[in-house]
Order: sequence, then C-alpha cells, then structure tokens
Amino acid sequence: MDFNDFREFGKAAVDFIADYLQNIRERDVLPSVTPGFLHNQLPSEIPNKAENWNIILNDLESIIVPGLTHWQSPNFHAYYPAETSFGSIVGELLSAGLGVVGFNWICSPACTELEVIVMDWLAKFLNLPDYFLNETNGPGGGIIQSTASESIFVAVLAARNKALKFLKLKYPNIDSNAELYGKMIIYSSEQSNSCIEKAGLLSGIPVKLLKTDEMLSLRGDTLKEQINNDLKNGLHPIICIATIGTTATCAHDTLIELGPICVENNIWFHIDAAYAGAAFCLPEYKHLLSGLEYADSLNFNLHKFMRTNFDCCAMWYKDTNDVINSFNVDRIYLRNKYENQTKWAPEYRNWEIPLGRRFRALKVWITLRTLGGDGIREFIRNHIHLAKIFEKFIENDSRFETITKSSLGLVCFKIKGSNELTKRLLENLQERKKIYLIEAKVNDKYFLRFSICGFEPNESDIAYAWEEISEQTSKILNHVENVNKDEDFAENLIIDKKSVAWF
Ligand SMILES: Cc1ncc(COP(=O)(O)O)c(C=O)c1O
Repeated sequence: MDFNDFREFGKAAVDFIADYLQNIRERDVLPSVTPGFLHNQLPSEIPNKAENWNIILNDLESIIVPGLTHWQSPNFHAYYPAETSFGSIVGELLSAGLGVVGFNWICSPACTELEVIVMDWLAKFLNLPDYFLNETNGPGGGIIQSTASESIFVAVLAARNKALKFLKLKYPNIDSNAELYGKMIIYSSEQSNSCIEKAGLLSGIPVKLLKTDEMLSLRGDTLKEQINNDLKNGLHPIICIATIGTTATCAHDTLIELGPICVENNIWFHIDAAYAGAAFCLPEYKHLLSGLEYADSLNFNLHKFMRTNFDCCAMWYKDTNDVINSFNVDRIYLRNKYENQTKWAPEYRNWEIPLGRRFRALKVWITLRTLGGDGIREFIRNHIHLAKIFEKFIENDSRFETITKSSLGLVCFKIKGSNELTKRLLENLQERKKIYLIEAKVNDKYFLRFSICGFEPNESDIAYAWEEISEQTSKILNHVENVNKDEDFAENLIIDKKSVAWF
C-alpha cells in the first residue's frame, strides 16, 4: 500500500462509517450469530501476500459487521451509552495517524500539554472544585485514563500506599506490608459497579459493600456505624468509593453526608461518576455536586455520556503527590530536562499504571470544540427528555410499574406481577433483536433497564421501542390469560405453568 492507496482507503473507510451511522436503524440491533461464527469464516493464519484494501473493506461488511452488536443504534437501550460524535471519530483517526506515544513530556510535549488543558476545560465545564485544576498552584490535577475501572483501581492503590505509611507509624513493630494490608478495608455501596469489587481483589484489600436506603443511596449513618465497628475490630478503612449514577438504577450516594465522615476519619473519598458525571455541566443538576468538595479523587467517562468514543475516562486527584509517591519508578531513559518544572509539563506516567500513553486528549479537544459547551448540554438534556417520554409511556399503562423515578437517561421498569413475565418479555425482545435491553435486580426486585443510547436518538426511536415492548407484553399477557382459562376449564387438570410452551 502506498500513499495514494492510503488516501483512497482512508476516504473509503470514512464513507463506510458515515453510511454505517446514517443507516444504522435499518439493522437489527443484536446480531444473529452463534459462538464460533468468525472462526468458521476466517483463515487460521495470516495471509502471506498483502491483500487489497478493497477486499478487506468488503469482508468487514460481509463477515465482521454481521457479528456486531450495534452500540451506536438508537435501538440499543442496554447498559449505558457509549456515545461518539463526528469530531471524536476524526480525533481518534488523527491520533492514530500521528502515532505519538507519550512516555514523558519530551516524547511529545503537545500530547502532555493538551491533556493538561482539556482536563482543566472539563473541570471548569463540570463545575468541579478548583483544587482539581492543573492550572492552580496547588497539588491537584487531572489526567485521562482508559476506563473507570482503571481509575478506581489507581485510586485504591494510592489510598493503600497512603494508609501503609500511616500504619507503619502506628505499628512500628510490624515489618510485613502484607500484615498491614491485612488490617485494611475498602467501603462502597451494595449498588456500586462490579469494578470496585475487582479493584479490591486486585489490590488484595477486602471491599465491604454497605447497605443503601430506600432511594438506593449510601448514607452517612451507615458509613459511620461501619467505621466504628471496624475500628473496634482493629481494621483500618482506607477508602470510601461513592457513586453518582449507579449502574443498576442511576441512584446517587449522599456525598454531603459521606464526605465529612471520610475527612474526619482520614479515609480517602473517591467518587465514581462514570455515567452521571457529564450532567454536572447542567445548572438544573447542580444538586449532584453537593459534597463533591470533599472528594480526594473523581472519575467520569467521556466515553459514556459526552460523545467521545471509547476509551476515555477523566480522572482528577486532589493531591497528585499521593499517586506520584505511590507509582514513581525512575529510569535514566525516562528523564528529560524539563521534568517536574512546571504545572504544564507533568510526568503523567507517574499518575497511572501504563508507561505508554495514547494521545487521547486530541479527540477530547476536537470533540469539545466541534460540539461546544452548548451542544453538549443540549445533547444531555435531550437524553433526559427522551427518558421522560419513555417513563410516561410506562406510567400511563397499567400493565407496568416503574422501579425508581427515571434518573438522567435511564428508566427502570417491570411488568406488574410475577418476575417471570418480565423475564419472558426480555427473552422475547432479545430473540426479536429489534431493541436491546438488559435486566437488573435490586433488593430481590427483578426489572429491565431502558437506557437512552445510540448515535443521536430521537422521539421516534422511543416510540418505536415502546411499540415493541407494548406489543410483546400483550402477547405474553394474552398467552397467560389463555393458559389460565384452560386451567379453569380443565378444573382438576394441574398444569405446571412453567412447562407451558411460550411463543
Ligand atoms: C457507575 C459505573 N462505574 C464504573 C463503570 C465501569 O466503567 P468502565 O467500563 O469505564 O470501567 C460503569 C460501567 O457502566 C458504571 O456504570
């Protein structure tokens, strides 16, 4: 492939993406393949001779695309959105084209410095505490990580190291770090994301998932009681990870109660706002910020709700020295003469796990400029508006109940009565592949999550989803009614309802 071929290939690829996104509603959101489908179609070794890009692009459409779940389809209502935008897609392409790797500042000064700047733009846009800004004289700052999982793991490791220093002073006779780690404990809520439990497993520190109130929010009294119990038992809480926008129902922990308790007990206070953090930019959601001023660190995914394609997680530290002191491994080949001389040239490798850094700031910069603050706010408000429309459909239909009030772009609902009905609905929907929802369970209540997702969803998409849900529900309820009638008719004939064939 030469430069001319590359130009043609690249343009064809952009055309391919434009066609894909523009016509995405025509595809079933879920694929019709079974495990191993790709193995049966692709050779088991790399080709010896270079192949023409035209053939490869054709194979993409005919072999790979049929095996995709279409996250950018507005008929995708599972998980949380993985939003993208034209600016972000081009930013990703440009970053790949420039091909820089930011080991340190001198490895590509623009890679580091653009990250410093966009992280400050974001912190201001989201109304975060000033101490998170790179531009202030304090020790705080922001960095782009891959995912919420990685950010939370880093926060846990930094908190563990900070606590280790403290415990070494408290227990001068204990030499073994492992023994001191054995005294540590992590707190989060029973509603928190699975990645928090994983951070505990990876760091070797047990996680206690604390009970939430009826709003599924972790409250101060619960945390206080747990701390008192654990201290009495010789345990040392190192970090409390609160969530704004939990995965199951988009509930919010009560930061304003949790924060002061963490400060009082010298516990690292981390906030996971992976999805909901984007809403901090809306004045009407100002209440979500209450208590944020106690945070030692915070993460939110631009790749969820802020139209920057995966992966892109923003993370801020109140005191970057906590991580730098934990992760700084020096080598002569990583040094450069401007190291640590100004706020604008941080050595980001010491704030995170990998050494090599992608130029993610480029896609963020282009996304923020191509959408503008107003465009982002409008986009998030539209998601909230669409969720409210769906919620109204549910509330106005006596066959259904909502589980919680809709929260941002998420509505949680079920068919009234037995959980079996809702499970059957999900099975039918997934078999038909017109729309994609997933299930969740909170306090033994089984329900479905309807999340607004996809590339530029609109009101017609919600009407389409509702029609599909309503129609499938009618079929299920009619079937149940017929089975019941048959049962009445054959009075003494006992039919195991579960064995009745569903359609
Ligand atoms: C609240 C919350 N935290 C963390 C995560 C994990 O995000 P990531 O895939 O970026 O690790 C999710 C994923 O949906 C989430 O909803």
